Amino acid sequence: MCGIVGYIGNRNATDILIDGLTKLEYRGYDSAGVAVFSNSEIKVCKEKGRLLNLCEKLEKDPITGNLGIGHTRWATHGAPSEVNSHPHTSMDGKIAVVHNGIIENFEQLRSMLKEKGCYFKSETDTEVIPHLINMYYEGDIFNAVKKAVAQLEGSFALGVISKDEPDKLIATRKQSPLIVGLGKDENYIASDIPAILSETKDVYLLDDGELAVLTRDGVTLYDSEGNEVTKEIYKVTFSENAAQKEGYDHFMLKEIHEQPRAIADTLRGRLSLDLPVKFDDLDGELIKKFKKIYIVACGTAYHAGLIGKTAIERLAKVPVSVELASEFRYNNPLIDSETLVIAISQSGETADTLAGMRLAKECGAYVLSITNVVGSSVSRESDTTFYTYAGPEISVASTKAYTTQLASLYLFAMFLAENKGTLTDAELSDIKSELYNMPQAIEEALKLEDEVKELSKKIYKEQDIYYLGRGVDYAVAMEASLKLKEISYIHSETYAGGELKHGPIALIEDGTVVIAVSTDKSISAKMDSNIKEVVTRGAYTICFANEETKASHESSHVVVMPNRSSVLAPITSIVPLQLLAYYVAINKGYDIDKPRNLAKSVTVE
Ligand code: G6P
Repeated sequence: MCGIVGYIGNRNATDILIDGLTKLEYRGYDSAGVAVFSNSEIKVCKEKGRLLNLCEKLEKDPITGNLGIGHTRWATHGAPSEVNSHPHTSMDGKIAVVHNGIIENFEQLRSMLKEKGCYFKSETDTEVIPHLINMYYEGDIFNAVKKAVAQLEGSFALGVISKDEPDKLIATRKQSPLIVGLGKDENYIASDIPAILSETKDVYLLDDGELAVLTRDGVTLYDSEGNEVTKEIYKVTFSENAAQKEGYDHFMLKEIHEQPRAIADTLRGRLSLDLPVKFDDLDGELIKKFKKIYIVACGTAYHAGLIGKTAIERLAKVPVSVELASEFRYNNPLIDSETLVIAISQSGETADTLAGMRLAKECGAYVLSITNVVGSSVSRESDTTFYTYAGPEISVASTKAYTTQLASLYLFAMFLAENKGTLTDAELSDIKSELYNMPQAIEEALKLEDEVKELSKKIYKEQDIYYLGRGVDYAVAMEASLKLKEISYIHSETYAGGELKHGPIALIEDGTVVIAVSTDKSISAKMDSNIKEVVTRGAYTICFANEETKASHESSHVVVMPNRSSVLAPITSIVPLQLLAYYVAINKGYDIDKPRNLAKSVTVE
């Protein structure tokens, strides 16, 4: 969470910082601030609330200079407020710091620093950092940062500037992402690539413990001991447009519509109709030895895992357990060297998912990650990585990352089935061809937009909306319900159709809205009975079905989606449900891309 940007060059740093922060606002938006070296001192401007508030403050009292750092915050330690927002400074104001992550030993450091005479203005963990750097400062900011970070426990990405060395910007990281952007006579730091994509596509992906010294003329990289290191420049391949809205009102809507492209990109070169499935570097022989698979993930990625389980078990006949990453490590999972752990994470930075992976590795498991962010911590720490090619996902509510995760899990299930010989040639060929044609099926599903938009007008004033499903439709319903609550703040629960009678049906009364997902012909009659049960008790029901399952004539409204075989149905059936959540939130007038209290990437446990 939180976004960092930093600049050193010949242009006005404030403008570049604000531009970068605008693109990073999805990382956190409860306060923002900048520190710029201007007229021989470091001037700090920060403000609670959205970035706009900071911009208004800067308009009234502009700061100009050629060196600066900026931050957009999602609070962890200390409430959202001006004083708790970053940058934080040393007592004399000579050193300014922006920080992402959490300093776990900040209380000990704070006591030690207080004993040495430091006073603290904020309630944050971060504020110990500028004081600590100041304590070590003997005329060389790089050395002082190096010594200070050696004292820090926890996670951090840092940008540091000093009044006494205005020709340098120092950056370093541990378990929190940070990149260095390379320009001509100017250089940048950022927590995420989109922040500086309008300026450069050449970046260094800093590794844990590395430090960077940026000047106008160049960048020097060091390991944690202070030895100079070299590393390859990473060329960003996605365009700035890909990180912009391209005419859509919101990133979420743009990202929903991007799904056919994102799926096609994820499948390209990996799935063809007449060749074995390629799963990047994963060894087909190695994969056969695993007796058990754990899928570990959070939020939407966890919901993708639930569908992955069905696909892997049905196609490759290997037992799969899907675990919430935040629970996994505390549940003494039964892991050994014959266990495969699949970590799924859009951002590749989710703290709980990383912690789960680390535990799995310690216990001897082989870790495969599925992530959307090249060079992310998840990808670096796993034995092998499979990238989804969704492109940058900006909306906090995840859509295209989810469907590309599904496509990746289907590919994995087919890869495993092919290597284990668990499917006949005909079965394999059918399922491959269905996945191959998935982008067109999603185009079809997108055509339901107008119908779903109309439906949203009927339900947006509800306080509670219930979702029902069976089998994979149950997992899809869970994701649909999550989308709805994330952006429309409507209370929503999901139940497996068969569980209704064991309690939830008590909630149904006249007019209660129930949304059912029913795409599997083999169990659609059971789903119809469940729909009937709630209709009888007065529910207004909407059923998302297909030509084969639409007989659910008891429903108040049936949305007919493209026909797909049951195991692959989720990748298309989620699309109109994403659109429904979107339009419900539009009707309510909410901030779609930045829902309250949520962050895109949760880098704290
Ligand atoms: C946050 C986001 C969710 C996301 C979850 C896991 O809660 O708001 O949209 O599904 O984190 O994120 P990851 O990057 O690990 O997939």
